[in-house]
Order: sequence, then structure tokens, then C-alpha cells
Amino acid sequence: MRRAKISVIGAGNVGATCAHWAAAKELGDVVLVDIPEKEGVAKGKALDLMCAGPMERFDANVVGTSDYADTAGSDVVIVTAGIPRKPGMSRDDLIATNVKIVKSVSEQVAKHSPNAVMILVSNPLDAMVYTAWKASGFPTSRIVGQAGALDVARFRTFLAMEIGCSVEDVQALLLGGHGDTMVPLPRYSSVHGIPVSEFLSQAQIDACVERAKMGGGEVVKLMGTSAYYAPASGSVLMAEAIIKDKKRILPCAAYCNGEFGINGFFVGVPCMLGAGGVERVIDIELTDSEQKLMDNSVEAVKELVEIVNNTFPELAGKNAPVGAA
Ligand code: NAI
Ligand code: 2OP
Repeated sequence: MRRAKISVIGAGNVGATCAHWAAAKELGDVVLVDIPEKEGVAKGKALDLMCAGPMERFDANVVGTSDYADTAGSDVVIVTAGIPRKPGMSRDDLIATNVKIVKSVSEQVAKHSPNAVMILVSNPLDAMVYTAWKASGFPTSRIVGQAGALDVARFRTFLAMEIGCSVEDVQALLLGGHGDTMVPLPRYSSVHGIPVSEFLSQAQIDACVERAKMGGGEVVKLMGTSAYYAPASGSVLMAEAIIKDKKRILPCAAYCNGEFGINGFFVGVPCMLGAGGVERVIDIELTDSEQKLMDNSVEAVKELVEIVNNTFPELAGKNAPVGAA
């Protein structure tokens, strides 16, 4: 059987950790790409990871490179290239630098791996997903952003910590953009089917919601740069769903074609992930107040997209195909 091929662009904290999780899970062979000035770092991390194989018992070829020819024919490409946040910065402060990086990366990915599913991670996430879609010309089903998998994992973690139960039994849902306007949904959150309101007061639930929304910032404040273990875990969870055609339902930044009242934007929504990438967006009923929060989040996403369009007017008009592949 042919092994899957996963390329990870950006061999920094998130990228190298994606390579780590992907190799440890034996998802396939991994190519870790960085800029020419950092090719040694990419090669060194790849070699170091390979040498863990005999002890951790995984068979995966991991190569480091700055040459996109080595990524040719990838099944999944995870894009982590770009600068991360420093204390005091919002994700949106990164846009000027990262939009240029993600545009050039996406063009290379489209050239060398025209059939790949691209998972965007670079921030501000919602703008980067849009940039990758426009720059690659891929169908919307093969462009997806990692945010919800992480944000909902944070929400589940904080609920479990508050309840004092195993995080494995906590299920939750979260929608919207990957910013302070994200929308955790306590109404759709449970402990093995039992509503969280049976365990926690409204004030406790509200505190978990707020902590989830600010979870990324909490880590930045503590360590001076952005998180990487959980973000990489979320990215590789999505890659696994695609490579193994698992049809997992996860919140992801996906193209909405009328779902949740959103038209023509990539926003965090529940998706079915399988071999085709985003195979379905699952539209659910929201209460008026939940819809209001969602609308507010979508407005924030639209503002980011406008910045991208102003930076690269040629992308705005670019005719990428709409709808499933
Ligand atoms: P990092 O600074 O550790 O690594 C970024 C790497 O990208 C560097 O090695 C850099 O040389 C490389 N790079 C820059 N331009 C490149 C190009 N044109 N081609 C290939 N590689 C290039 O940063 P970190 O912590 O890994 O974060 C990466 C991005 O992911 C940031 O934008 C960060 O905000 C974002 N992020 C997103 C999350 C999410 O949930 N969506 C969570 C955590 C981080
Ligand atoms: C996070 O949520 C910074 O997006 C990054 O940790």
C-alpha cells in the first residue's frame, strides 16, 4: 500500500510539532519545509525526529528541505509558515507579514501538489484560509483552516478542569472565527450526553467560555510566544481524518455557501472531514442570541478578508471555483 505523504510548511514550533505527532501516529511520510536560510533547521529537526523512531516505534520517513520539489504529490499540506504572536499582540497584528508568506506558499503547494488538501494554521487564521484559497485556485472543499479543533479542545479542557472529570468524557461545540469573537456553545456541550449545566453553575460555564476564548492569549502571556502542542495536535487530527477518510465531525474553518446565513466566507463551522477534505458543512439551529454572536464573529472575519483584498487586489478578483470539488 502506498504511504500517505504529508508536507508541513514552516519548521518552527507548530510545524515541527505537527511533524512529531504525524510521524508518531504513522500517518505517512513527512516533509518539513522552511525557507532556504532555515533549511538546516528543517533538516536537523527531521533527522532528530527520525532517530526517535526506533524508541517510539514508528516507521515514517521525515525529511527536511527548502525545496518544494520534495513535497511533490503530497496528500495533505499543513501550512504553519509565518510569524507567531508576541505578548500584547493580537492574531490580527500578524496579517501584513503572514498574508505575503501564505500567498507564496500556497502558489508553491498548488504547483507541486495540485490534488492535496491544504490545512491552514498560520494566523490570522480566517484571513490565511481565504488567501490560500485565492492563491492556490483549489476548490473550496480542499482548503480548510485549523482553529475549531484547538479552540474546542481548550473549551473541553477548561470544562473538565472545572467539573473535575475526565476530559475524555467532555464533548463540546464551538463556532466562528479564530479570534476573541469565537463562539463556544454551552448548549451543545455535555459530559457523556449529560448537559454541562447539570454540573456547573451559569457563572462557572461563563468563566469556561471566556477562558476558551482567551486560551491562546493565556499561553502567549505565560511563555512569550504562541502555543504549539495543542495547535499541532488539532492540525494532525484533521490530517488523520482526511488521510484515513474517517468522516470525522470537527469544527473547522470551512467555506460556507449559505450555512448559518454565511455566504462566500471561510468561518469555523462543524464539518465532516474525509478523503475529499471538507465533505459536508453541518448547519444547525442556533438561538437568536447564539446567531447574534455568530454574526458578530463573521463580521470580524469579513474585516480580515477585506485587508487581504486590499493588500492583494489581484486575489480579490481571482476566480477560484466555488463549492465542492
Ligand atoms: P515559528 O516562528 O516557531 O515558526 C514559523 C516558521 O515559519 C519559521 O521557522 C519560519 O522560518 C517559517 N517560515 C516563514 N516564512 C516561510 C516561508 N515563506 N516558507 C516556509 N516557511 C516559512 O512560529 P509558530 O509558533 O510555529 O507559529 C506559526 C504560525 O501558526 C503563526 O502564524 C502562529 O500565529 C500560527 N498559529 C496558529 C494557531 C491556530 O490555531 N490556527 C495556533 C498556534 C499558532
Ligand atoms: C492560539 O490560539 C495563537 O492562534 C494561536 O494559540
